[in-house]
Amino acid sequence: MIRVVDLHKSFRGQQVLKGVNLDFATGKITTIVGTSGCGKTVLLKHLNALLLPDRGEVLVDGVDITKLGQKELYEIRGRFGVLFQGAALLDSMTIFDNVAFPLREKTDTTEPQIRKKVEERLEQVGLEGMGYKYPAELSGGMKKRAGLARALVMDPEIVLFDEPTTGLDPVLGTGIHELIARTQQTFGFTGVVVSHTIPQVFEISDYVAILANGVIEEVGPPKEFQASQNPVVQQFIRGETEGPIQAL
Ligand SMILES: Nc1ncnc2c1ncn2[C@@H]1O[C@H](COP(=O)(O)OP(=O)(O)OP(=O)(O)O)[C@@H](O)[C@H]1O
Ligand SMILES: [Mg+2]
Repeated sequence: MIRVVDLHKSFRGQQVLKGVNLDFATGKITTIVGTSGCGKTVLLKHLNALLLPDRGEVLVDGVDITKLGQKELYEIRGRFGVLFQGAALLDSMTIFDNVAFPLREKTDTTEPQIRKKVEERLEQVGLEGMGYKYPAELSGGMKKRAGLARALVMDPEIVLFDEPTTGLDPVLGTGIHELIARTQQTFGFTGVVVSHTIPQVFEISDYVAILANGVIEEVGPPKEFQASQNPVVQQFIRGETEGPIQAL
């Protein structure tokens, strides 16, 4: 279980997170929505301590990871898989080497074991036999899937997905959602998804939370979330320019 308590974060006087409180249930998918620039990526980066808060706690199984030293942080981060916004593949490496990278960096897995595991993950994301290609030779959707294979190669307990379907066509987007749902069922990880692809992303979500004005304004199962009378939720879902959501 991940618990975020009273998280505050500012950048050069710009208050982005103003007291975020949110629980992420173990083995479930929680999706964070919110307008562009509202701080979703900033919040996500606090969950594995890529960013440290000005105030507040991030508890992973009861341990406040904002207080850990480098060695303990390294261990905690090993429990996370991350699919960054834009996939963030290393351009100079093949897809195979990109997916193998965390295993080579962080484990003493032998090369034959690495080969087996990477090929298995590539197959799971529908990139079987594509390992020899370089990122520049892949389409946007293929890059996302390669990023997903890399995020899952360490059998992570927790996976962070930052906009896994943004910029993809609706068919591919649905395919990525199904892939996330399927791999979640296979591996049982705790998933945190940041997404603009609503309401489609609700189908794979156990919980939906909206970040607005620096706080979590509403959280609940998708149906209840969509039916919420909270004006922040309704403004966001309808895409209205007038309402309680303030631009940063
Ligand atoms: N490292 C940083 N230094 C300074 N400002 C930052 C940094 N990271 C984020 N910000 C600012 O924090 C705000 C929130 O950014 P964030 O990337 O979290 O938005 P987002 O909700 O993920 O948006 P999008 O949906 O467009 O990805 C922005 O105004 C951004 O400029
Ligand atoms: Mg973002």
